[in-house]
Amino acid sequence: MAEPIKVVVTGAAGQIAYSLLYQIASGAVFGPNQPVYLHLLDIAPMMGVLEGVVMELADCALPLLAGVLPTAKPEEAFKDVVAAFLVGAMPRKEGMERKDLLAANVRIFKEQGQALDKVARKDVKVLVVGNPANTNALICSKYAPSIPKENFTAMTRLDQNRAQSQLAAKIGVPVQNVKNVIIWGNHSSTQFPDASNAVVTVGGAQKPVPAAINDDAYLKSTFVTTVQKRGAAVIAARKMSSALSAAKAASDHMRDWFLGSGDRWVSMGVVSDGSYGTPRDVVFSFPVTTANGKWKIVQGLTITDFARQMLDATGKELAEEKQEALDVCKD
Ligand code: NAI
Repeated sequence: MAEPIKVVVTGAAGQIAYSLLYQIASGAVFGPNQPVYLHLLDIAPMMGVLEGVVMELADCALPLLAGVLPTAKPEEAFKDVVAAFLVGAMPRKEGMERKDLLAANVRIFKEQGQALDKVARKDVKVLVVGNPANTNALICSKYAPSIPKENFTAMTRLDQNRAQSQLAAKIGVPVQNVKNVIIWGNHSSTQFPDASNAVVTVGGAQKPVPAAINDDAYLKSTFVTTVQKRGAAVIAARKMSSALSAAKAASDHMRDWFLGSGDRWVSMGVVSDGSYGTPRDVVFSFPVTTANGKWKIVQGLTITDFARQMLDATGKELAEEKQEALDVCKD
């Protein structure tokens, strides 16, 4: 058995973490032979709740769980970690404007970037889930200059999984038969779920998804808006935001980053190099392939006029969010 690796989850007393911790500790992320030492960060008032989570982790009797460190101190939580799931963020409260939420959360990610910079391993892989995820990842990276920018990513995998599931249902095949659907841009309502390069296996043969569905209007409208608004639909039904599916997506994202994506493209918010005419130095979701712990943007795809408009709109939103966040960080 390998030596345990240290993995941190922030927002560890919250609802996403409640599902995510089990997935990490049971081997779904780092593999069935990799023990993990879990560092659990939350804010001081949540330490009592966190104690309950620690008890439940013990009660799961998981062979791969080498130890647990619950703490309210970022520098303790981030010490020597190889993987960081940054889930913790302030939820939107009644009457709160989007701008106020961005300001509150960007400050959290500035502080956590500084702590990662000081005490994490320099090869730490950081996944930001807490919203606004893309811009939080950018700010976190900016305040952790000793860690490569490529090591900071934002989660759009939930959107990808939602999109894949919608397409599979529409075509009438199991979800794993659909691959290479793309989420471009921001994890927000401007994201662009794009099925134009997706492929599906039907009756043992591969087919382009647009040919299998043969309904351009559906792919440009209902499909796009269903995925964009899926989070709101879950809140309306559950009265709470997506948590089980968000935790599964976070596991998928980190597993593929560590262990490789094979012959599938996956969508990850990564620092933009300007590919596909997107603004540089924002965290933009692209189709990537992963191998040996590194991601690479899939190149050479055709961008239609429709796609161009969608990419420009979400890129513009990210550039604006970046500016707002940088203004907040100056204070
Ligand atoms: P939650 O409110 O149940 O849990 C959040 C936890 O974070 C709480 O325990 C809170 O005390 C903690 N927290 C707040 N400030 C913190 C800090 N400075 N350090 C450490 N912990 C801190 O929320 P939930 O449902 O677990 O969601 C967490 C975040 O994930 C939210 O920002 C939500 O919008 C986002 N999200 C992102 C998705 C994505 O696809 N990127 C999907 C679903 C949710």
